[in-house]
Amino acid sequence: MHLGDFLRDELRLTGTHLGCEHGVCGACTVLVNGQPTRSCITFAVACEGQEITTIEGYDDDAVMQLLRPAFTRHHALQCGFCTPGMLTTARDIVLRLPEADEARVRLELSGNLCRCTGYQGIVDAILDVLQQQRDAPDVLFENLRQKLSSARTVATSRVTPLRQTELPSHSPSKLTSADSIALAEMAEVDPVAMAKAKAKGNAIEVYFDVPYPLNQVWEFMGDLPAVASCLPGATIDSHEGERVKGTIAIKFGPMSAAFAGAARLERDAAAKRAVLRGAGQDSLSKSRTQGDITYRLEALSADNTRVHVDMIYALQGPLAQFSRSGLVKDFVRRMVADFGRQITRRLGGQTAAPNVPQPTVSISGMMWSVLWNRIRSWLGKPPQT
Ligand code: FES
Ligand code: FES
Repeated sequence: MHLGDFLRDELRLTGTHLGCEHGVCGACTVLVNGQPTRSCITFAVACEGQEITTIEGYDDDAVMQLLRPAFTRHHALQCGFCTPGMLTTARDIVLRLPEADEARVRLELSGNLCRCTGYQGIVDAILDVLQQQRDAPDVLFENLRQKLSSARTVATSRVTPLRQTELPSHSPSKLTSADSIALAEMAEVDPVAMAKAKAKGNAIEVYFDVPYPLNQVWEFMGDLPAVASCLPGATIDSHEGERVKGTIAIKFGPMSAAFAGAARLERDAAAKRAVLRGAGQDSLSKSRTQGDITYRLEALSADNTRVHVDMIYALQGPLAQFSRSGLVKDFVRRMVADFGRQITRRLGGQTAAPNVPQPTVSISGMMWSVLWNRIRSWLGKPPQT
């Protein structure tokens, strides 16, 4: 049972609304230990012992006492269906981003959909509260900001590796944060989760061409630190033989994440094929990912090589809300295209910057790209990256 159903059907707390039940619309947003969380994609059982705050729980909340009248003043709701989720996200924005301007507020709010208002009133209400707090800071409000900021610091620093014997069973939903980190450190990928991911269509096949001979490309692709330096947002912390530990940072619309984890590379020189198996966790959102990236080289000519990349991934936690395949696939295509360009630069003797800039993808840009590629496919043309 997901948390949204549990709150509504078992506890009769019907202020939490369910819209899409797919992690997309944000109507079901509640706080889990102070963090906005989609209750429709959170298992109720996983919340045992956690602190859940629903819209019914804000009677004495200093921030909501300013947000509620601001929503009324600016006509920030009509039917009110989205409002519990909007208020929860608005509260997070005003606490976390005291200097946010309109563009930032709109970006942060883009994970919550409203069918009625056109958003202007909601944005104005949030900006109004931010301005009030700048003009006349409220002590209770400031205390909440401090509390939130220290909770985030603790969340990012709390990492406890497990021993091999303490590894959890193959049930991703039972993983605790510490378990996931341990799993990530050992680069053990759960085959059950991978099979499920494949069945759910979380698989992407792309390729890029490199104007260099197959053997030269193969040799380069075996050098893990060199390859990582070509991957946008990737940094390597340690490297030993076929194993590597590091972080990959991404920005996806309003969500930022830095997945820290480990990967292991298995190479088949005869087939010119390799599999990189990895797992990682974003300590802030506690989202977890694991996946296999298989690459296979094909000689197009003596001096040209095609790199086929086959990726299967499983994503869990708050970031799973962006698992809609069209968006993720477009995002990955862009990353792989950048990766191919960087490899070409490196093979050409150009020194790539130690770290390629973190990929930033705006939801609006992504939507446009998806739409544009769909139009191209109607016209019988291949997708653009
Ligand atoms: S109901 Fe839409 S995100 Fe949960
Ligand atoms: S006020 Fe109706 S959906 Fe937002």
